[in-house]
Parts: sequence; structure tokens; C-alpha cells
Amino acid sequence: MRITVVGRGNVGGGLADRWEQAGHTVTRIGHDGGDVADAEVVLLAVPGGAIAQALEKVEGIKGKTVIDATNLYGVVPPDGFPSNAEFVKSQTDGPTAKSFNINYASLYPRLGEARARPSNLWCGDEAARDIVEQLNRDCGYDPVYAGPIENAAAQEALVNIIFAIGQGLGPFVYRMAPLEQL
Ligand SMILES: NC(=O)c1ccc[n+]([C@@H]2O[C@H](COP(=O)([O-])OP(=O)(O)OC[C@H]3O[C@@H](n4cnc5c(N)ncnc54)[C@H](OP(=O)(O)O)[C@@H]3O)[C@@H](O)[C@H]2O)c1
Repeated sequence: MRITVVGRGNVGGGLADRWEQAGHTVTRIGHDGGDVADAEVVLLAVPGGAIAQALEKVEGIKGKTVIDATNLYGVVPPDGFPSNAEFVKSQTDGPTAKSFNINYASLYPRLGEARARPSNLWCGDEAARDIVEQLNRDCGYDPVYAGPIENAAAQEALVNIIFAIGQGLGPFVYRMAPLEQL
């Protein structure tokens, strides 16, 4: 599959490495943006608060299948949108999924060592299912469907629980949105 990752850091670069190992062709773009017209699927892995800025610099994304891997730490989705994934869909008007936002990128190289294949949530459009599930399997995850794109806000918020566990089960210091908006 021809994949373009927008954001080539821990997540974008890490998944790109694994997908290349699985035989896919991956193009990596960063801050400067670029043209994704040739891609069959685009992964968005930029800081959550930079999603709008990042998309402005990406050409050829209309109608593409897009997987949004962003999380929101102390920032909210663009105005009027309950989640970054729904904002992405509004901009691309193509099959959209939220995935790869819950598992730590630092563990990608160890996916093969797990006793059982780790699960990875995805939610989003049926039209994205085949690609998202294949790309989950091809980097070592067992994809778990979490419902339609309207569930993306809940999947984005889940990262706060993961971080709270990592920090000793207290209240997580960042919130996805001010309390009155939750
Ligand atoms: N790290 C994790 O374990 C993890 C796990 C799940 C989800 N996430 C989420 O995944 C996203 C990426 O995290 P990461 O750890 O991979 O970050 P990272 O290593 O810092 O990489 C960020 C990438 O985004 C690009 N970028 C930054 N600002 C941009 C902008 N305004 N426009 C376009 N591109 C921009 C950078 O471009 P340059 O290459 O040009 O600098 C870089 O390639 C975040 O939303 C994060 O919350 C992270």
C-alpha cells in the first residue's frame, strides 16, 4: 500500500518503519507539508493542537482515507468540533478513522515480543475499515473496532486515563477541555 505519514516523529516515523518492514511504501512529511495525492492512505501524527495548521500545508488530501493518531494534551479540537478526527473528516471529506492514539510509540519495536498480540482501538467510517485493520495487523496489533467517528472524542479522552495510570492513578494534570465544556 502507498502510505504517507504527516508527522514523522515517534508515532509517524515509528509506524512508518514497521509498515516498511511489512512491505508497504511510505512517504514521510513534517512541518513543511507536501503533496499526498499519490497516497492510498494518510496517517496524521502531528501535535494535537497543530492539526489545522498541519492540514493547511498538505495538498491532495481531499477524499483520501485518513487515520488520525493525534492526542490532545491541554488543547481542544478546532472550534465547533468534538474531536480532532471529526475536524479532519470535515476537511478531507473522505473515509476517516481514529487509531494509534492510545498505545505508546516507544513500545513499537517490542510488539513482536508480547505474549499475545496487543489490541489497538480504532473508531471511524466503515469505508476506512479494511485499510485501518490491515495497517494495525501489519505493525503488530490486533485491531478492535470502537464504533463510528462520533466515538472519536471518547477515544481521544481515553488517553487521560492511560496517563493517569502511568502517573500513579491520581487525577491527570491535563484535561482535554476545561471542565465546564466536558
Ligand atoms: N509518542 C507517543 O507515544 C504517542 C502515542 C499515541 C499518540 N501520540 C500522538 O501522536 C502525535 C505525534 O506524537 P509524536 O510523539 O510522534 O510527536 P513528535 O515525535 O514530536 O513528532 C511530531 C511530528 O509532527 C510534525 N509537526 C509538528 N508541528 C507541526 C505542524 N504545525 N505542522 C505539520 N507538522 C508538524 C513534526 O514535524 P518535523 O518532522 O518537521 O519536525 C514531527 O514530524 C501527537 O498528537 C501525540 O499526542 C503520541
